[in-house]
Amino acid sequence: MSNLLSQIKEDINCVFDRDPAAQSVFEVITTYPGFHALMIHRMGHWLWGKGFRWAARFTSHIGRWLTGIEIHPGAIIGRRFFIDHGMGVVIGETAVIADDCTLYHGVTLGGTSWDKGKRHPTLHNGVVIGAGAKVLGPIDVGEGARVGSNSVVVKPVPAGATVVGIPGHIIDPNAQKTSEERDKLAKKIGFDAYGATADMTDPVAKSINHMLDHIQLMDKRFERMTELLSEAGIEYQEKPIPDLDGYEIEDGGDE
Ligand SMILES: CC(C)(COP(=O)(O)OP(=O)(O)OC[C@H]1O[C@@H](n2cnc3c(N)ncnc32)[C@H](O)[C@@H]1OP(=O)(O)O)[C@@H](O)C(=O)NCCC(=O)NCCS
Repeated sequence: MSNLLSQIKEDINCVFDRDPAAQSVFEVITTYPGFHALMIHRMGHWLWGKGFRWAARFTSHIGRWLTGIEIHPGAIIGRRFFIDHGMGVVIGETAVIADDCTLYHGVTLGGTSWDKGKRHPTLHNGVVIGAGAKVLGPIDVGEGARVGSNSVVVKPVPAGATVVGIPGHIIDPNAQKTSEERDKLAKKIGFDAYGATADMTDPVAKSINHMLDHIQLMDKRFERMTELLSEAGIEYQEKPIPDLDGYEIEDGGDE
């Protein structure tokens, strides 16, 4: 009993950490549909576990009437779970949600097949799923991962990753950096890399991006070699390089 009470207390307190609009415990208990849905689900899940399947489904159905949030009583939900706003959330029977996860309104943790057995996602600790996102199939969303609003995710998400878009793709800050460096280099050599992004599927743009990455790597190696030569007392002298037509190519510098 004391475990249940401490769990409910945690479920209330976590709202204050994740919703700056929350004012008081009384407000959370009386006006937060996500909290109501969770309490009703905890009841329904207990009934489900005891084998009272109809009663569990009916409890979940009442929860849906009252809150607009549909959680199958078979779904396993960890501690400090928070659904903000709530309306339109659907959580399937075999979904598993670990601790400290947050969902916004319109999220679906759904299945893509009619097979019985595991067919809904597993969210690891600390996952946040943005409003309207659909996470489909028996995939894992790794610890601390974030799914952007309105994304559709059908493949596993690594821990800590942020996924956006349809179909969901990972936003990789390093890839972003590489593409910025690429743009800089492309500008330097006069190639218009406008629109060439890390996840672009155009094979020609992809090949050019690979070449730009390679040139960038060679540039870095060359810089390191001149540094080492200079440390060894040999100064490298920059000389203009004639191109095929006999014109000299200007060094664009590092800007
Ligand atoms: C995905 C999310 C977590 C990323 O947040 P972030 O790490 O601060 O990332 P940024 O805002 O810097 O965006 C990074 C890039 O992803 C894009 N992006 C962000 N969210 C996106 C989304 N939902 N769909 C498509 N692209 C998105 C941005 O446009 C940006 O692209 P760019 O680098 O080409 O400009 C956040 O945008 C999100 O969707 N959170 C859910 C919030 C929510 O549902 N709130 C409801 C409150 S009621």
